[in-house]
Amino acid sequence: MQTGTTISEVRKAVHLARTAGDKIGCVPTMGALHAGHLSLIEKAAQEADFVVATIFVNPTQFAPGEDFSSYPRPIEKDLELCQQAGANFVFHPENKTIYSENRQIQLCVGELANRWEGESRPGHFDGVATIVAKLFNIVQPDVAMFGQKDYQQLAIIKSLCNDLNFPVEIISCPTVREEDGLALSSRNAYLSRSQRKQATVLYRALCLAEKFVQDDQFSLKEIREKMLEMLVSEASVVPEYATIVDPNTLEILQQRQQKMVALIAAKVGETRLIDNREIFR
Ligand code: PAJ
Repeated sequence: MQTGTTISEVRKAVHLARTAGDKIGCVPTMGALHAGHLSLIEKAAQEADFVVATIFVNPTQFAPGEDFSSYPRPIEKDLELCQQAGANFVFHPENKTIYSENRQIQLCVGELANRWEGESRPGHFDGVATIVAKLFNIVQPDVAMFGQKDYQQLAIIKSLCNDLNFPVEIISCPTVREEDGLALSSRNAYLSRSQRKQATVLYRALCLAEKFVQDDQFSLKEIREKMLEMLVSEASVVPEYATIVDPNTLEILQQRQQKMVALIAAKVGETRLIDNREIFR
């Protein structure tokens, strides 16, 4: 596996691979890799011939006061994990390589970015769309893998490709979970032992929502209330939203339809966690 911190290094490696006829896959990450990230790299290794994983803690998607500076950066361990998962190249640039001081242009995402995650994290998805567009321009992949764990992010990346004509196929990968249902997240490391136990309530509330939606006994509004009730039953958990929405627009649903998605964001102590589950009628 090769590694590089400069744009010319990754471009050169990709150019060589492409000239040899390789299909190029890209897996953007912020590092602190866990089995969720690695499942994306493994999927990329199946779908593509030359896999570029990127590790970059993107400052423009963190709001002031969020955990940008304390975000874990175990680069040596991450490189080892990338190699084991089947990456061919890891691009791990410094800030100044990606963002010039006098930059003038960034992307601005529409309505889709304003609800749910966007409401409590203004500007977050503009930062995500901008960095992903830049990484796509740098790597020029044929396919890129993103996790369903970040459902709204995935919807926005699909819009990014449609709206700006990036010729990149977006492949969505299922959420990897702990045995007790907690979705793997780099931020789980912030949880105390007791918070870690309580954090499973996000998954439990999603399963409850699925059961009640399929049972037809309660209205979607009642089911939202039941999710919230379940979340607050854990002392350290403060829900931000628990909802059932349309999988494409992420607009709140009043009536059941064939495919729906339940979304949850909650603070567990000081740690903000998100999770979701697609529900089929
Ligand atoms: P990060 O949080 O590091 O996640 C990188 C990728 O891993 C994302 O596509 C995310 O959805 C996926 N992922 C995270 N946890 C997962 C899990 N438990 N199961 C499956 N996939 C999981 O998301 C970002 O970084 C950034 O916003 C990024 C897209 C890299 C732009 O900076």
